[in-house]
Amino acid sequence: MKIVAFNGSPRGESGNTYLMTEEFLAGAREAGAETEHILLAQKKIGHCLGCLACWLKTPGKCVIADDMADLLKKFVSADIVVFATPVYVDNVTGLMKNFMDRLVPLADPRFAKTPEGECRHIIREGESPDIVVISNCGFPEQSHFQVLKLLFSRIARNMNAQVVAEIYRGGGEMLKGKNILLIPLIMRYKKLLRTAGKEVVEGRKVSAETAAALEKPLVADEMYIKYANEYFEKVLKEIAEKS
Ligand SMILES: Cc1cc2nc3c(=O)[nH]c(=O)nc-3n(C[C@H](O)[C@H](O)[C@H](O)COP(=O)(O)O)c2cc1C
Repeated sequence: MKIVAFNGSPRGESGNTYLMTEEFLAGAREAGAETEHILLAQKKIGHCLGCLACWLKTPGKCVIADDMADLLKKFVSADIVVFATPVYVDNVTGLMKNFMDRLVPLADPRFAKTPEGECRHIIREGESPDIVVISNCGFPEQSHFQVLKLLFSRIARNMNAQVVAEIYRGGGEMLKGKNILLIPLIMRYKKLLRTAGKEVVEGRKVSAETAAALEKPLVADEMYIKYANEYFEKVLKEIAEKS
């Protein structure tokens, strides 16, 4: 089984999304999967021009000569793709959205009604890979992933694919915390991510037990907010003193 993760964090390897995705992929490898972690921030991906050449002039091929041609090949060759992105303004990052727009050459322009009675395009490349979503955000509550949950259920519908796992972490800025009290909590969370990776390879789903544990906050919201605000106050005070 081949799993390809597309990571839309502008922070790349220093990001919290990277940390989460790496743990998930490590678990997947333990269960025998072949994995690849692609940082979109390191790729040249232009904006979709809306010219529709990929549908009506050169079906399946985009007119823009950049890294996307290679990424499309990797996308369709995967059994499972991971959309990994932080939450930016209640949505995926611009990098990720740009990448998603450029997946359009995979679809056939012709409309087809789903059994539910809503149109989508026909998918040209045979069966679509299953989808895993990994995200984190700065605010502590899990409710900040509402838009992503709906978005990826729509993406899966459009691609005639299945979302087999969604891993969302509020308070994601804690994941690289060095505080001695945080370290065991982070280690436990990383282990859960690896378990999720393993479970997805073994059964194409995350068990209810692992999913429930992954949803639990690392620390109480009040504590996270207190530390975040103390940090912001300190930095802002330092800047004010310097100016
Ligand atoms: C431009 C921008 C917009 C953001 N918008 C949100 C937001 O709407 N909600 C939220 O909880 N966090 C938001 N964040 C915080 C990020 O989700 C958070 O810092 C996350 O840990 C970044 O992940 P990364 O390290 O993988 O890039 C935003 C950060 C930036 C830079």
